Amino acid sequence: MSGSPARIEEQGEPRAPRSAATHAAPRAARTAGVPGGAGAAGSPVPAAAVRGAALADVPQLEALMAPYVATGDLLPRSNYDLCRHIKEYVVAEAAGGEIVGCGSLKIYSRALGEVAGLAVRSDWQSAGVGRALLGVLVAEARAQGLSEVLALTRKPAFFLRLGFMPAEREQFPLKVWADCARCPRQNCCDEIAVVRTL
Ligand SMILES: CC(C)(COP(=O)(O)OP(=O)(O)OC[C@H]1O[C@@H](n2cnc3c(N)ncnc32)[C@H](O)[C@@H]1OP(=O)(O)O)[C@@H](O)C(=O)NCCC(=O)NCCS
Repeated sequence: MSGSPARIEEQGEPRAPRSAATHAAPRAARTAGVPGGAGAAGSPVPAAAVRGAALADVPQLEALMAPYVATGDLLPRSNYDLCRHIKEYVVAEAAGGEIVGCGSLKIYSRALGEVAGLAVRSDWQSAGVGRALLGVLVAEARAQGLSEVLALTRKPAFFLRLGFMPAEREQFPLKVWADCARCPRQNCCDEIAVVRTL
């Protein structure tokens, strides 16, 4: 994904999907009011921006996802897979240039896409980064003319909070489950399907 920047609003989603500034700041920074948090006059200072991922981001993407792959919250992705599909990814980049969040939009048909690989670094969680990433991915899905985006997740409450509805796994085409073949939990899967109509 690439293109002109668009701002993320506090509660809404951007019209243009490709790159968006957020008001997200790391928990510690927000609490302490240091750079990255609210400005001295109380105005928010953008501390992380969502943009399309580039190949140079792959090492940081691997490091960001690794702990969540270990816990089973994310599927493992090879270096090859990340490079091959890098254009599907967006990243949240902190002011210092480090990547603190990521996510991807996989397109299955003219109507259906999937949000996958959504992750926020632990010290940046609960600061709106996940919301910003999801907003950009949903806006991209809408811009592509998709009518539905699904997610398969162990964190359904996050998605339900942000406009998704519970769904039956069986309502999605078989190719969606191709990922399951490489999942270590394929015989004991506890992922929930959620879907958002666009
Ligand atoms: C799930 C995850 C992406 C959320 O990112 P985040 O940046 O912490 O989320 P945000 O701060 O943007 O939260 C947005 C809203 O969702 C809520 N939310 C966040 N995580 C939640 C969870 N696990 N359960 C319920 N609600 C949650 C927040 O409270 C917030 O709601 P509010 O605005 O009403 O307060 C992050 O916790 C993460 O990376 N988890 C590990 C990897 C993972 O499980 N990814 C999902 C796989 S598909």
